[in-house]
Amino acid sequence: MKTVVLKINAKKPQKSKIKRAACFLTNNETVVFPTETVYGLGANALDEKAVKKIFKAKGRPSDNPIIVHVASIDETFFLAKVNETALKLMKHFWPGPLTLVMKSSGLVPKVVTGGLDTIALRLPNHPVALALIKECSFPIAAPSANISGRPSATTAKHVLDDLRGRVDCIIDSGAVKIGLESTVLDVSAITPVLLRPGNITVEKIEKIIGKIKIHKSSYGSKLSGSEFAKAPGMKYTHYAPRAKVILIEADAKNKNAKIKKLKEELRGKKVVFIKSKNKPKLASDLFKMFREFDKSGANFIVVEGVNQTGLGLAIMNRVRKAASKVIL
Ligand code: TXA
Ligand code: MG
Repeated sequence: MKTVVLKINAKKPQKSKIKRAACFLTNNETVVFPTETVYGLGANALDEKAVKKIFKAKGRPSDNPIIVHVASIDETFFLAKVNETALKLMKHFWPGPLTLVMKSSGLVPKVVTGGLDTIALRLPNHPVALALIKECSFPIAAPSANISGRPSATTAKHVLDDLRGRVDCIIDSGAVKIGLESTVLDVSAITPVLLRPGNITVEKIEKIIGKIKIHKSSYGSKLSGSEFAKAPGMKYTHYAPRAKVILIEADAKNKNAKIKKLKEELRGKKVVFIKSKNKPKLASDLFKMFREFDKSGANFIVVEGVNQTGLGLAIMNRVRKAASKVIL
């Protein structure tokens, strides 16, 4: 398949190019577009055949549901049963990196929701994404634009590495801002449940709607049996670079000794270290570093953990899921 690459200005999207990209979507073809979190691989959410192309391009398991991107809060009323909590959160955080899981109205085909009776909705905060969705007369289903199991793409270059020849169009608007995928919050039950931590933190959400539950998957812990029912995406290896990721979660007292021991064990191997106390910077660079270190042929990526407050929970979630070994 030939992939058309369109360079579109991230701040002031050129109208003619947005129209060209929207044309692919209207023809039920696939378009990769930037959002404020990561690049997304989009298709018409209302067309089963179009959505199936997403699964094929990514090699995504068919029971992993896809987020539906809308251009306004009004649109959500057609797609989901919107309750008061959802509306409050939308008014406060949209457009922005918060995905809300609600009861589906049944309008989108089952392929989108992986057969669940809920639907995940998000209004992204990126001029190109917004212009593109507005240009289409339908919502856009879009998972992260990477081959399944690889780190999410934060630049068009990463998208091209994974998806050139597998999608119809790729919009290149440079590097994204946040670098980690949106927060996923299930608001379909009385007490909302955090399924995936992101830039809209637990602290920020609780300020608006009070105490929420934190699903085990948010910590990046391995799940089993019925725990998957609510968080189907967590069944699969995520964010895994090819190099082995080793996460150091030892407390300050023991950390240096453990790192020293690890360095001795890995002597002779190609090892790179990721260490930063600046959480926003670490979040925005994490996937990029995973990809770059892989290219450089590293055997091991050693990451020093951060505390789990604020954005720290999202960072630790991604690193734990990528890690093949955790040193406590
Ligand atoms: O920032 C983002 O969210 C990016 C951009 C492109 O918007 N998208 C993204 O999509 O990260 P994806 O498919 O890589 O991750 C979506 C997550 C998956 O873990 C999926 O299982 C979960 O959301 N999800 C989608 N629909 C769901 C539903 N109805 N119930 C529970 N989880 C759902
Ligand atoms: Mg993904």
